Amino acid sequence: MVRTMKYCYRAFLLLILVALLASSPASGGNNRADQCLSCHDKAYNKAMMNAYIHEPFLEKKCFTCHVDGEELPSASSGQERSKRQQRSKITWLQKHYEPAKTHFFLLPSKNIYQKLFVQIKGPDNKSRITSIPLPPIGEISTLANDGTQPEISNIQFHGIKRGVLYSAIISWETDRPANGQVLYGIGSFNQKSNLDVHLKKRHIISISPILPGKTYNYTVASTDIHGNKSISQPLSFSTDTPAIPLPQPDPAILETQVAQLSHKLLAVDDLYFITITANAPTHMSIGKDDNLRPQITIQSTGNENDPPTTHIALRNSRETNIRVCLTCHTNYQTESSHPIDVGPRRGMIFPDDYPLFDDGKMHCITCHDTHASQNEARIRRPTKQELCIGCHKSYG
Ligand code: HEC
Ligand code: HEC
Ligand code: HEC
Ligand code: HEC
Ligand code: HEC
Repeated sequence: MVRTMKYCYRAFLLLILVALLASSPASGGNNRADQCLSCHDKAYNKAMMNAYIHEPFLEKKCFTCHVDGEELPSASSGQERSKRQQRSKITWLQKHYEPAKTHFFLLPSKNIYQKLFVQIKGPDNKSRITSIPLPPIGEISTLANDGTQPEISNIQFHGIKRGVLYSAIISWETDRPANGQVLYGIGSFNQKSNLDVHLKKRHIISISPILPGKTYNYTVASTDIHGNKSISQPLSFSTDTPAIPLPQPDPAILETQVAQLSHKLLAVDDLYFITITANAPTHMSIGKDDNLRPQITIQSTGNENDPPTTHIALRNSRETNIRVCLTCHTNYQTESSHPIDVGPRRGMIFPDDYPLFDDGKMHCITCHDTHASQNEARIRRPTKQELCIGCHKSYG
């Protein structure tokens, strides 16, 4: 009898507990998280089997930590938000200093996500940064190699110039974007200019040093993005060869503001081939944001005809792995404060299973398991010492 009473009492307590849980904001107030769990239920259930579960995860605050544009726990003011927008960290990948209306770029697809940044500096000398969306490489059409060689035309000699040394300027055109190089010499082609690796249709190359009073033989060579190469017929120049002056920019153009940009994207193997055209000649640089996340495309499982959809936009890695943490754990930096956002010191090797930023630097999640763990304080190793030894070999 006593036994059954005890049993009933326990069951009653359990009931109350369940009722409390169900009505607490923890499970009731976060219906939005169910959106996430409809796909991430396995990861969620797995995390829930652990001994130590991070409280905000338990409360299903998925949006707080993950979803881009979501308010941070300490209500972020307008000022905060503008700081956030500046937090993109652009790395410039290529810079073209020669003004042109159309610029061509060939970029690796690895580690560039979502968008490219384009900086232009027009004839009015004002510079401006815009961005262009960058779909995954698999989603854009391929520029096939037709196997033909680039066609070289309009080869011009622009005269010999006296600076510290004498130099000569040669220009030519190609029917498609290609690199450029001049091979030259006296009686043979034993010298070559620097290879201009930038892809262009109009090539201007200066060769130096040149001995005045001698006759030089030269050819020009261009290779397109598929590796098809052309070399022109041999030509020659000397101090006496009539020179065609380099065209001067039209003064009217100096008034033009670079306003519109149009662009075209094609894939060449796993490279992006990008053509950007402006309404006036401009310098152009192209870059990426190191803090962006790869965009995830979700292939629907059931119906093959369903188009793939795009994942809800996620916070960048820096925000999820440091910034949101610090909004709740405000005293981190003063109390425990191991350095974060630092790379390995000389001679130090970070273990493979410690997550890092793309640039190889450590963050909170380098030491702490995400969401849940078997280890106290959710550290990545059973003991603190083992965790530290992962990087500091001498702590053993
Ligand atoms: C329609 C299904 C679906 C929904 C809904 C969904 N996700 Fe995902 N999510 C995926 C897929 C697929 C991936 C990529 C594969 C993986 O890592 O599991 C992914 C990856 C992620 C990643 C890892 C990103 C990375 O950089 O590797 C995070 C974080 C994430 N989702 C969070 C969320 C959150 C938070 C929600 C709710 C707001 C959500 N997801 C809703 C399908 C979904
Ligand atoms: C306290 C912040 C926080 C909360 C709350 C949180 N996450 Fe995460 N989550 C992270 C961090 C940090 C990572 C790992 C690093 C990263 O994604 O950049 C991560 C990783 C993920 C990943 C990638 C795969 C994996 O498991 O490593 C998924 C999917 C994910 N979270 C889903 C969710 C879902 C669903 C919820 C809500 C139930 C949620 N997260 C709640 C911080 C959080
Ligand atoms: C929404 C607020 C919130 C955010 C965001 C948050 N935490 Fe927490 N965290 C808590 C609370 C609440 C606790 C439990 C009480 C305590 O120990 O302070 C906790 C506990 C912890 C603990 C102690 C171990 C544990 O699991 O209880 C660690 C470690 C921790 N958080 C790390 C992080 C890291 C790393 C991030 C960023 C990815 C983060 N927290 C983001 C609220 C937050
Ligand atoms: C170098 C590894 C390391 C890094 C990086 C790290 N932690 Fe910890 N953290 C620990 C260890 C180890 C503990 C266990 C407590 C202790 O003994 O210091 C801990 C404990 C905590 C706790 C529990 C409260 C406490 O002091 O006991 C919180 C919260 C926490 N860390 C948050 C963070 C946040 C937020 C970040 C990023 C800003 C972070 N940690 C980065 C190793 C690290
Ligand atoms: C992911 C690798 C990593 C882990 C894990 C790690 N550290 Fe470090 N630690 C570093 C790096 C890198 C620095 C140097 C940062 C700098 O100053 O550039 C550092 C610096 C330090 C310093 C500053 C003083 C010094 O030696 O220059 C202390 C103290 C320290 N770590 C203690 C710890 C402890 C204790 C643990 C375990 C809880 C730990 N670290 C875990 C990478 C790590």
